[in-house]
Amino acid sequence: MNLPTDKDGEQRFLEAFRHSAPYIHAHRGHTFVLLFAGEALQGAVFEGLMHDIALLHSLGIRLVLVPGIRPQIDALLAARGIAPRFEQGLRVTDEAALDAALQAAGTVCARVTATLSRGWSHLPGSRQRIRVLSGNLVVARPLGVREGVDFQHTGEVRRIDTEALREALDGDRIVLLPPLGYSPTGEIFNLHAEELAREAAVALQADKLVFLVAGPGLRDGRRRRISQLTAAEVLALLSGRRRLDPHLERHLRSALLAVRQGIERCHIIGLDRDGALLLEFFTREGTGTLVTAEPWETIRRAVIDDVGGILELIRPLEESGVLVRRSREKLETEIDRFHVLERDGMILGCAALYPEGEVGELACLAVHPDYRNGGRGQRLLEHIEAVARRQGIRRLFVLTTHTADWFRERGFHKGSLDHLPVRRRRLYNYRRNSRVYVKPLDAA
Ligand SMILES: CC(C)(COP(=O)(O)OP(=O)(O)OC[C@H]1O[C@@H](n2cnc3c(N)ncnc32)[C@H](O)[C@@H]1OP(=O)(O)O)[C@@H](O)C(=O)NCCC(=O)NCCS
Repeated sequence: MNLPTDKDGEQRFLEAFRHSAPYIHAHRGHTFVLLFAGEALQGAVFEGLMHDIALLHSLGIRLVLVPGIRPQIDALLAARGIAPRFEQGLRVTDEAALDAALQAAGTVCARVTATLSRGWSHLPGSRQRIRVLSGNLVVARPLGVREGVDFQHTGEVRRIDTEALREALDGDRIVLLPPLGYSPTGEIFNLHAEELAREAAVALQADKLVFLVAGPGLRDGRRRRISQLTAAEVLALLSGRRRLDPHLERHLRSALLAVRQGIERCHIIGLDRDGALLLEFFTREGTGTLVTAEPWETIRRAVIDDVGGILELIRPLEESGVLVRRSREKLETEIDRFHVLERDGMILGCAALYPEGEVGELACLAVHPDYRNGGRGQRLLEHIEAVARRQGIRRLFVLTTHTADWFRERGFHKGSLDHLPVRRRRLYNYRRNSRVYVKPLDAA
């Protein structure tokens, strides 16, 4: 790669690289099931997409790829003068369509495998070639006759060979699952790629299910990207008055089902942008739509594994004197006191509560500078107040040097050392000269 030579370019590169580094760490070892629409193979995006998939693999992400083959089947049928038949949103796979599906799946898998087999000399660990695995990993059954329509060779997933999938992923292979399934009687079924991807993600308890869709992805009525949706918001969108593109509607229904089945993050990403996968996973803004069961930032009690993330967050604040310095050891022993605001495996904020009878100290409240002014500090404070109330604490106090106004605007009033429990008063650092702010809490 040629590094930018001008100062601005250099600065932008450094910021982008520093910004992405925590995501690289957060995704390593995670499993992503990635469906890409058949359109991905037709346009100029294909090379870029395969490159980015190879890059994700080289960064230690466990990948299952599910290629869609709908446009390829349609093209093959059209070449034979046959019109495709869809009923209830699904293809009716007669003999001709099954032939086309087999041919399309074979060609698509061969192209994906061939491209991934290329030497990606600039990627980390590139001396080892990428190994791709396919096989009889999906047991299928016929969809049968529904509402009077015989779907013939269209099938549905009966079982995924999770053990074989896990073995392949543990062995550092990319798994390629074309939308075909095999029955114990030796029949072949044409599967809905989206259903297959969802079933695979659920079977593997994948960290992410990703739909790379033709076009720009999900937009609101004013053509602006919808960047996040909770399950409840997806439902509202599906039952609302706005007419959605039928493909996007299906993706949304699948995403909804997936999050209900325990997949924490489901992404719908438009294929029309080069590098869309990288932008979605390694930048704060993303480029697609993230569907989660609950709001995707959560506050939870900290555990020992969070120590590193908390230290990263508070070190700069300690160095500038905003927070009191804590050693790693002290943080480890006091980790039970901490609560963290987490997003996508990254710690964006933290706060600690030290109870002493009916009094509690709120300490170490911090939000990552890139994420301030979004109400996160307020949410952490409300969370700590709720925890304190549950513990029977009637008065919260905080010692602050820089942030008095912030607390005053949130119901704290100026107090004195007399408001501190005796033990805490003895530890008070007169050189630091923090001010005491106090907030009475109503009973839970
Ligand atoms: C204080 C802090 C936790 C707030 O986090 P946040 O997520 O930005 O908080 P919110 O979004 O809920 O609140 C933002 C509002 O507080 C204001 N604010 C931020 N820092 C402030 C300060 N030091 N004094 C007064 N107001 C402040 C912002 O201007 C913004 O006001 P606005 O809504 O009118 O625009 C964050 O600024 C931080 O980490 N600061 C450094 C650590 C610190 O001082 N901790 C407290 C020590 S005990």
